[in-house]
Amino acid sequence: MIRATYRRVATAFLLITFGITLAAPAVYASAAREPARARSAMVASQHELASKIGVEVMRRGGNAVDAAIAVGIALAVVYPEAGNIGGGGFMLIRFKDGRTHAIDYREMAPAAAHRDIFVDKDGNVIRGEGGSTIGYRASGVPGTIAGFEMALAKFGSGKLKWKDLIEPSIPLARDGYVLTNRLASLLEGYKEHLSKYPDSNRIFLNNGKYFKEGDLFKQPELAMTLKRIAEKGPREFYEGETAKLIASDMKANNGLITLEDLKNYKAKERTPIRGTYRGHEIISMPPPSSGGIVMLQVLNMLEEWDIASMGHNSAAKYHLFTEASRRAFADRAEYMADPDFADVPAASLVSKSYAATRRKGIEPKKASLSREVKFGEVSISEGQDTTHYTVVDPAGNVVSNTYTINDLYGSRVTIKGTGILMNDEMDDFAARPGVPNLFGLVQGERNKVEGGKRPLSSMTPTIVLRKDGSVWFAVGARGGPRIISAVMQTVINVIDHGMNIQQAIDAPRIHHQWLPDEIFHEPYGLSPDTMAIMRGFGHKFADRPGNIASATGIMIGNDGARYGAIDSRSDGAAIGY
Ligand code: GLY
Repeated sequence: MIRATYRRVATAFLLITFGITLAAPAVYASAAREPARARSAMVASQHELASKIGVEVMRRGGNAVDAAIAVGIALAVVYPEAGNIGGGGFMLIRFKDGRTHAIDYREMAPAAAHRDIFVDKDGNVIRGEGGSTIGYRASGVPGTIAGFEMALAKFGSGKLKWKDLIEPSIPLARDGYVLTNRLASLLEGYKEHLSKYPDSNRIFLNNGKYFKEGDLFKQPELAMTLKRIAEKGPREFYEGETAKLIASDMKANNGLITLEDLKNYKAKERTPIRGTYRGHEIISMPPPSSGGIVMLQVLNMLEEWDIASMGHNSAAKYHLFTEASRRAFADRAEYMADPDFADVPAASLVSKSYAATRRKGIEPKKASLSREVKFGEVSISEGQDTTHYTVVDPAGNVVSNTYTINDLYGSRVTIKGTGILMNDEMDDFAARPGVPNLFGLVQGERNKVEGGKRPLSSMTPTIVLRKDGSVWFAVGARGGPRIISAVMQTVINVIDHGMNIQQAIDAPRIHHQWLPDEIFHEPYGLSPDTMAIMRGFGHKFADRPGNIASATGIMIGNDGARYGAIDSRSDGAAIGY
């Protein structure tokens, strides 16, 4: 790595000093951070305390799956805006010997939910309390504990028990941890709705007095809940005291989740979705996430063009990326949903031949109009917020895990007496097909609300292989549909532009999701000249720039070392040994 850095610095010196031009993409270390490096094991998560717990699990002989479970529980305590036991997600696992598994622990709609549950008598979508984003009715049945239970039973090392993975987080909840300025300000920033729910108001807003940077933040009820789950096992959450507390608070507040819903929740193993980009195998999450399919569709469309020579931030590349994204997101709206409830033509959508057809409508210097770009023709009859973390263990096994309570602080409801902050994942269904959700996403009939169904997700935990079949890097992100853009641009940055994992994650990016028909861009991400060229092609930009998701990832170097990266757009720590 030191030699590689030296080479890049020397190259940059030659280029700057003598104006020498090279054919291969040059990578300038001087303007970018290096990833964290470790010889053997690494955790990259959005909180240092959670990463440390994962590292400690591996030092005790646990594998990447054991560590991922412990990190997930710790984030529920130290990263309450997204870490959770009141939400759900997806875990992608790649063992060193090539076995690959995907666990779907996405929330399920309660049995009483139905297509029109978030629509008033005049047919309008209900906003605020009682709708799909705020309050008790916004929550799906949480899947995190069931997903971790399945991961441990099927893929854990067998050296550490359930209790061993939960216990390290109990003191963090019981005795507290010191709040950063970011978390203290963020909690107060969400007071409008958190203050409406007594336990949320007391725990997260200090009873209206709010927290300051440096305060010790304690969550005694969450500590008790974790203790019960550690001692009695994962079923406690679904059938024990915790389940009773959730169901009775739901009943008292017009919520939908019952004891029966909790008892019936099931995590599922899914077959990972696979494709290739320039000869590298890409493995990601299949439905009920749209992430893997949309990413592979865009990469398939781009593969025909020489993206590397266009340059990372060029108008030419971003034009093609926008056009490919526009088409893939149009397909998302039409075709993607929970595969247990709707036919999702996944294999057709990620095929190279479908990409070739979709690509035909893209002109090199002219933007399409989203209202004229409909979903493509495929055969149906074929058989604000989230967090991602990545773990590599000493044996080279990898876990790429994304989980969520949807919006920051989910539904804002903390279940009485449990410290559990609940998700608002019901908003990932089409509350009314054709009407935009929290993320401005327009979704179709296939993703309508139905009891027992999983809402469509954009979470994209991904693993990319070297051409010899070994793991090269793993990455994922938070940020609703922008997750997909962040992950696929990280893949492009590494494969086409030769960036290391830190540079690939930090680099500016764009996002286009079909509707609204505008490009989201980042502060300082695009030069005025690039934007002028793209406007000349007919593209529109969002009025104001904003960050596009935030990613974490780990790359395994040629030397076998682990290189961990946390996005410059957010907190976190990549820690290893
Ligand atoms: N709740 C965000 C997602 O699953 O895409």
